[in-house]
Amino acid sequence: MSVRITRVPDGSALAEALVERWAEMAARAVEERGVFRIALAGGTTPAAAYARLGQAPWAESLPWERTEVFWGDERPVPPDHPDSNYRMAHEAMLAHVPIAPENIHRMRGEARELDAAAEEYRKELATAFGIDPDGAPPVFDLILLGMGPEGHTASLFPDSPALHSTRWVEAPFVPQLGMRRITLTPVVINRARSVVFTVGGRGKEAALSAVLKGPREPDRFPAQIVGPSEGSVEWILEEALAEGAGV
Ligand code: 6PG
Repeated sequence: MSVRITRVPDGSALAEALVERWAEMAARAVEERGVFRIALAGGTTPAAAYARLGQAPWAESLPWERTEVFWGDERPVPPDHPDSNYRMAHEAMLAHVPIAPENIHRMRGEARELDAAAEEYRKELATAFGIDPDGAPPVFDLILLGMGPEGHTASLFPDSPALHSTRWVEAPFVPQLGMRRITLTPVVINRARSVVFTVGGRGKEAALSAVLKGPREPDRFPAQIVGPSEGSVEWILEEALAEGAGV
């Protein structure tokens, strides 16, 4: 596994860098395998990048017809809810690009039974990737991740049982939020060819320092668990945050 840290001046440069990585990896995946499969991060940080991807030139120039979009995690809400990670990406990007609807693989956060929704997503992953649902986890070309102020990533929060799950998708209760989430687990994330974290703003300095420079304690700082054995990890960080974290 290779780890690369890229500092960028501000939020706009962060968005531009993420767009560039998406374009580069989409081109490579389509050339090598005829398809680009990506899992999106939720939250607010990637929204500006998604908005750029939903506009010219990217909305026309990227291989959307060969792209399949998934999510790294989802909140327990319907797809039209303001907190929905699906809604954020759909409004900013997916509604404006020529991607086939069947290639948009939404996690059903609205389900009454979120464990069933997690199981349903596992089967959808297996079908989309053309693999055995009881076999080795899917290999994403790119997984986008963010990091919370206490070091969570996707919906893998401190002390979450999902951190050690052998299942591809879990729906853990998150005590810190007082709600459940649906999330890909490390067994999937760590099979990716490439993982790109984008982290900015303030208030994450201590967690970022602990994750990147501290002792290995992923139950306390879940983003530390991300380390694709055959893949690469890049942290794209706003300068001020990286400076404050000493990374
Ligand atoms: C979510 C995300 C989550 C996010 C971090 C950072 O559903 O909230 O998947 O892991 O990436 O919480 O969120 P911000 O980008 O809003 O700081």
